[in-house]
Amino acid sequence: MGKVALVTGGAGLIGSHLVDLLLQKGHSVRILDNLDPQTHPHGVPPWIPKEAELIVGDVRDKEVLKRSIQGVDWIFHQAAFGGFTPDWSHYIDVNGTGTARIFEVIRNEGFPVEKIVVASSQAIYGEGLYTSRSEELYYPELRPLQQLERREWEFKDQRRPDATLAPRLTPENAPLRGLTPYAVSKLCEERLALHLGKELNIPVVALRYAVTYGPRQSLFNPYTGIVSIFATQLLNGQNPIIHEDGLQTRDFLYAEDNARANLFVMESDSAWEAFNVGTGIPSTVLSFYDTLADALGKPKAPPTIRGTFRLGDVRHFAHDVTKLSALGWRSSTSLRQGLERYSEWILSIAKVDNPFADAYAKLLRLNVVRIAE
Ligand SMILES: NC(=O)c1ccc[n+]([C@@H]2O[C@H](COP(=O)([O-])OP(=O)(O)OC[C@H]3O[C@@H](n4cnc5c(N)ncnc54)[C@H](O)[C@@H]3O)[C@@H](O)[C@H]2O)c1
Repeated sequence: MGKVALVTGGAGLIGSHLVDLLLQKGHSVRILDNLDPQTHPHGVPPWIPKEAELIVGDVRDKEVLKRSIQGVDWIFHQAAFGGFTPDWSHYIDVNGTGTARIFEVIRNEGFPVEKIVVASSQAIYGEGLYTSRSEELYYPELRPLQQLERREWEFKDQRRPDATLAPRLTPENAPLRGLTPYAVSKLCEERLALHLGKELNIPVVALRYAVTYGPRQSLFNPYTGIVSIFATQLLNGQNPIIHEDGLQTRDFLYAEDNARANLFVMESDSAWEAFNVGTGIPSTVLSFYDTLADALGKPKAPPTIRGTFRLGDVRHFAHDVTKLSALGWRSSTSLRQGLERYSEWILSIAKVDNPFADAYAKLLRLNVVRIAE
């Protein structure tokens, strides 16, 4: 029989694909989303299905949560504030308080929720696993400002200063060393959810997402979402800025694959544990950019690479997905396929503005983006 599922943040990128998947599978869906104006400046986005119930409200609001959780079997907690801007307390407030409040309301109201999946992030690791040439393992600290100012993007092997450390896939048992307010807030969210779930005897799973992209990623928020930041500039004849030298790597996951992982763990027996969700394939930011430009039909547009960087960015990160694969989940969309589907979507939109033009000057002024001399 179909379940009743609450998707917080269900108007956003990952949440909206999850909503579609749940409906397809015959479940009833309620969305709780505050339609954050930076992400949804025009209000309700067109992809909210009429079959889903939409509650516009904040995850920190107890009364809104009572209405949202009443009668629900499953909760997928996707709502969050993300990014690198210096709204430091806001990350902790939305992601930490919002998560704790969901559990408070469940306890206070005695709601019989069956299971909860929360959106954690690769950000909680900070830098991941590296090895030296002699195969010693390293989990380096984030690179200090002085190193980045010298444009030394890679980690040197302390024993052989002529060599650099090689990035490896990072497993779940790696140290959790993320230090940005967003990273700390997602770690707070994950730890609270796993612990409070045990306290209430409600199975909880935390999914540590890789960088997720796809159709519906906000075209208006200039502070998050690499694919939309690049695409909105390319479509407006600008050459996007790539930080560092473009050879930093990430694990890029297609949003529909992410949604499938959410439903997969919800339906599994797993409880009170965290899983990496990614492709397990590292790609450089430059190759992501080239593939996107090509898919958009802008293959000759060179990016601007001039030594900009963000303090707190990791150099390399890709997930070791062995743990979730062993249960039977795998991503199925290649980067090329995912970016082609994204391009099809964005090219079908009549007018795409470039919100990044003004934002970039602000990011430099706020020292979020710095330029190495
Ligand atoms: N996209 C990624 O690369 C990525 C990577 C790691 C983790 N995550 C996590 O995945 C989740 C979903 O991310 P996304 O990429 O879909 O982001 P998104 O910005 O597209 O969607 C988030 C949604 O949450 C809503 N929201 C924000 N604050 C809210 C609040 N206080 N109350 C209610 N709703 C609120 C927004 O309006 C938005 O619709 C988040 O928890 C994020 O931290 C995303």
